[in-house]
Order: sequence, then C-alpha cells, then structure tokens
Amino acid sequence: MRQETADHKENCNLLRQAETIRYDDISRDNRRFDQYTDEKTLLTQRLIEVLNPNSTTTVLDIGAGEGYFLAEMSKLAHRCTGVEPDPIMLERLLRRFLGSHNVEIDRRRFEDFQTEERFDAVVSAHTLSFFEDKLAMIAKMASFAREGGLVVIVAHSILGRQYQILEQFDRQFRRGRLLHVSAELLCGCLESLGVVPKMDRVLTKTILPSLDIALSLGYFLFRQDLDNQDPMAKKTAMSLLLRNMVNHEVQIDTIHGVVSFRKTKDSKLEDKRS
Ligand SMILES: C[S@@+](CC[C@H](N)C(=O)[O-])C[C@H]1O[C@@H](n2cnc3c(N)ncnc32)[C@H](O)[C@@H]1O
Repeated sequence: MRQETADHKENCNLLRQAETIRYDDISRDNRRFDQYTDEKTLLTQRLIEVLNPNSTTTVLDIGAGEGYFLAEMSKLAHRCTGVEPDPIMLERLLRRFLGSHNVEIDRRRFEDFQTEERFDAVVSAHTLSFFEDKLAMIAKMASFAREGGLVVIVAHSILGRQYQILEQFDRQFRRGRLLHVSAELLCGCLESLGVVPKMDRVLTKTILPSLDIALSLGYFLFRQDLDNQDPMAKKTAMSLLLRNMVNHEVQIDTIHGVVSFRKTKDSKLEDKRS
C-alpha cells in the first residue's frame, strides 16, 4: 500500500519532468500526419461516448485544432467553446464555425483564458504536452468544470506502437533522456492527488504511403529533424520504421488513453495551480 502511494507520487514527479513541445516546431508535421490517420473520427466518437452530451450540455475544448471534435459535439450539445491560439488552426476554425449558433472560438492561449462560466465538460485532446506546467494546466481545466462536471484529457498510451517507437528511439539514440506524457502516467499522478480517473483506450491506425514520407515526419514521430542532425538519428529512425513496413507502407498503430474524472469539492488538484 505504502509502495503504491510512493509510485503514484513518482508519477507526478515524472509528469512534471515530461517534455514540453513547442507547437510551432511540430505543427507542420502534425497537419501532414493527420492526413494519413483515422484518429480524428475514432477519437471523436469515443469522446462523445464518454461525454454522453444532451441538449443542455456545455463543453470547453482546449487546443481545439481544426475543430473536428467541436463540429461533431456541437450537433449534440447546447454550446461549445474552443480555445485555440495557433494562427493557422484559428483561421480554419473561424471559417468552419462562421455563423454557427452554438460554437464560440477563443483565440487566447489557455494560460491566459478566463471566464466566469463553469462547463459540464472540459476537454483537451493531445494538448497537455504543449504546457510547461502540466499539473497547473490540469488544475486550471478542473477549475472551469462545474462541480460534478467531467474533465477529459487524451494522451498517448504506452501500449501503442507510436509511443513505443518514440520510446525506442529515445533509448537507442538519446539514451532515454526524453520523457513523454502518457495516459498511464497521468492516471497514476491523478490517483495520488485523490482523484479517481477512468481510462478508456482507443486504437487508431496510421498508414504512411512510403518510408520517405514517414522519415519526413521526423519531428512528429521522433522529436528530431532527421535531415539536419546526426546521421545516426536517421539510421536509428529508419531501422525502427522498417519494422513497421507492410509492402511499401509504414503502418503505425496508436493507442490513445481517454482519461476522465468528475470534479469534486475535495480534490487536491486546485492546490496545484501556479
Ligand atoms: C496536437 S494538436 C491537437 C488538436 C485537437 N485537440 C485534436 O485532437 O485534433 C494540439 C493543439 O493544442 C494547441 N495548443 C498548443 N498550445 C496551446 C496553449 N498554450 N493553449 C491552448 N491551446 C494550445 C495547438 O495550437 C494545437 O491546435
């Protein structure tokens, strides 16, 4: 029992130390990767199942991206607010929801976002890694949920191939010096803070049409610009990708952890706000 508590605390320490990605560095690869995966559809379906919205539900989506989730959610919910600071994504969102009666877009960074409103659900999918202080980000998310409302965070699961490729690259090329946010780490940390998280896992598939295309997504897949760095980086990446080749395609399974919890009065999360 004591060991379990220590492990959970360790999870929070690891979460604090996890890498912070600059969205500017990854955005181009991210948009290209999105063309080859069924992630948007499948993840949105699962998020809708977890949120189970009705015509009175209000939702806050942090890091709304191109707004795929907002578009589907707003068909079922009362009102949705998306927070999105990236200029390219923002422009797409504003165009997508121009004239929408129940979707509002806020262009601030979440760190600067403020509202008096409390939402039935506060969601962020694959956005936690962009925050320097992950615990403060989670606490701020919870602060915008009404009591009894849901907080939902999507992060890669350590069980998925995509996560494992990155981990193997770290081990072989960087000697394990990089640490990523994972859904499992997040759950362990939340538990040590007195929160009872639920984990749903979603499997998605990415098919990259050639090895060259996969290698051109170096920053997204490996956090490494493979063309302008140590040739060993490219060699290591190539050997990992070759193990996932089927005919001429690189096939990568991803498992997403959809981590959700209900906001309660007595969780210790609020103390984590900086
Ligand atoms: C990997 S994308 C995920 C987009 C979307 N949630 C999805 O699942 O498709 C991460 C998003 O978080 C946004 N983002 C990055 N830093 C942010 C911040 N400080 N505040 C709010 N959003 C941020 C990025 O602009 C980007 O759209």
